[in-house]
Amino acid sequence: MTDFAATKAMFDLPEGMIYLDGNSLGPLPKAAAERIRRTVTDEWGKLLITGWNKADWMGLPATIGDRIGRLIGAEPAHVVLGDTLSIKVYQALASALEMNPSRKIVLSDTGNFPSDLYMAEGLLRTLGDGYCLQTVAPEAIEAALSVDTAVLMLTEVDYRTGRKHDMAALTARAHELGIVTVWDLAHSAGALPVDVAGAGADFAVGCTYKYLNSGPGGPAFIYVAPRHANTVRPALSGWLGHEAPFAFDPGYRPAKGIERMRVGTPPVLQMAALEAAMDIWDMADIHDVRVQSIRLCDQFIAGVEGNCPELALASPRDGDRRGSQVSFRFKEGYAVIQALIARDVVGDFRAPDVMRFSFTPLYIDEADVARAVSTLADIMQHRFWDQGKFKTRARVT
Ligand SMILES: Cc1ncc(COP(=O)(O)O)c(C=O)c1O
Repeated sequence: MTDFAATKAMFDLPEGMIYLDGNSLGPLPKAAAERIRRTVTDEWGKLLITGWNKADWMGLPATIGDRIGRLIGAEPAHVVLGDTLSIKVYQALASALEMNPSRKIVLSDTGNFPSDLYMAEGLLRTLGDGYCLQTVAPEAIEAALSVDTAVLMLTEVDYRTGRKHDMAALTARAHELGIVTVWDLAHSAGALPVDVAGAGADFAVGCTYKYLNSGPGGPAFIYVAPRHANTVRPALSGWLGHEAPFAFDPGYRPAKGIERMRVGTPPVLQMAALEAAMDIWDMADIHDVRVQSIRLCDQFIAGVEGNCPELALASPRDGDRRGSQVSFRFKEGYAVIQALIARDVVGDFRAPDVMRFSFTPLYIDEADVARAVSTLADIMQHRFWDQGKFKTRARVT
C-alpha cells in the first residue's frame, strides 16, 4: 500500500495552502531544489561541456522517459522526453499520417485541448492536398470512425470536464478500420493507470509538469509502439534523432527505435527537477493512487452538491469514467476561483464557466478536501466572490 502521508511529506507546499491545481502545474518536490543545485553547481559549473558524457545529460531523455514509461504501461525503451507537448502532438500526428498515406482525415473531438487541434490544423494546412480535421462530440467518436479516417487523435481525459475516453475500446475499433491512433495523456500520466501497450496505442504523448510534477516548462514525452519504432518517419528530423548525430552527416538517417523521436538539445535543468519528482513516484503504486483519487473526488462532489446548490457538476459522476479532477459550472466561476485562491484553496478556471479542481493523492488528503468544501460553501453562501477585485481576468486563468 502506498504511504500517502510519506509522499505528501516529499512536497514543499506553502503552509496552509490546499493545492487543487496539480492538473495544471504540479507542486515543488522538496528534493528538486537540491537536485537542480547539484546539476548547476557540480555538473554545469564543474564539468561544463563534458557533462553531456560524464553526467550522462545526453542519456536522460531516454532513462527518465523509461521511468515515465512504467507509469503509462509502455514497453521498456519506448518513451523519450523532449520539447513541449504541442510539438510532440505535431510530431506524432505527422508520423501517423505518413503511415496511412491513402487517407486524409484526422478525427478528434470538440473537447480536445485547443493546442492539439491547432497543431493538427497547421500540419494539415502544410500538407495541403485534401487533408482535413474532423471534430465531433466526444460521445460521437466511435460512430464517426470510418475507413476514410487516417488518424484518430484524442486526449484520453478531457481537460475541462475530466471525462475519460475508453482508450482500449476506441483503439481496437480504430484498428479494425485501419486507423492509426495518437493519444494525448496530459491528464492521464500520473493521474490514473494507463496501459498503452495493452491498449495497442500506436503513439502516445503527454506532459510532465502536471501530475508528474516536473515544474513549469518541464519537457513532454512521446511513446511509439514497438511495432512502429524502427519504421516510423520523424517529420521533425532534428540532429539528436539522427542515427549518428556527431558524424555531422549532411543527410538525415533516423536513429534506432524511440531515439529517432528526439529533436534537439534536451532541457537538462528541467530534467533534473523531473528526476527528483520521479523519485516520489517510486514510492507510489498508481493503482493505489487511482483508488484514493476516486475517493477524494467523490468526497468533494458529495460535499459541494450538499452545500452549493448553484454549482452544476460538469464531470462524470461515475469515478471510472473520470480522470483525477472534478469540475463544476458556474457563470461567475472565475470570480469564485479567485475568492478561493484568496483563502488559500487553489483551483483554476477554464472559459466559459468551468471551475476545475484536481485531486492528487500524493499530496492531497481527506482533511484537505473537507476544508476545500467548507471554504467553497462559505464563499458561495455569503457571495464573497461578488467583488470587483475577483472579476478582473489575469493573463493566465
Ligand atoms: C491535453 C493537452 N494537450 C496539450 C497541451 C499543450 O501543452 P504544451 O503547452 O506543453 O505544449 C496541454 C496543456 O495544458 C494539454 O492539457
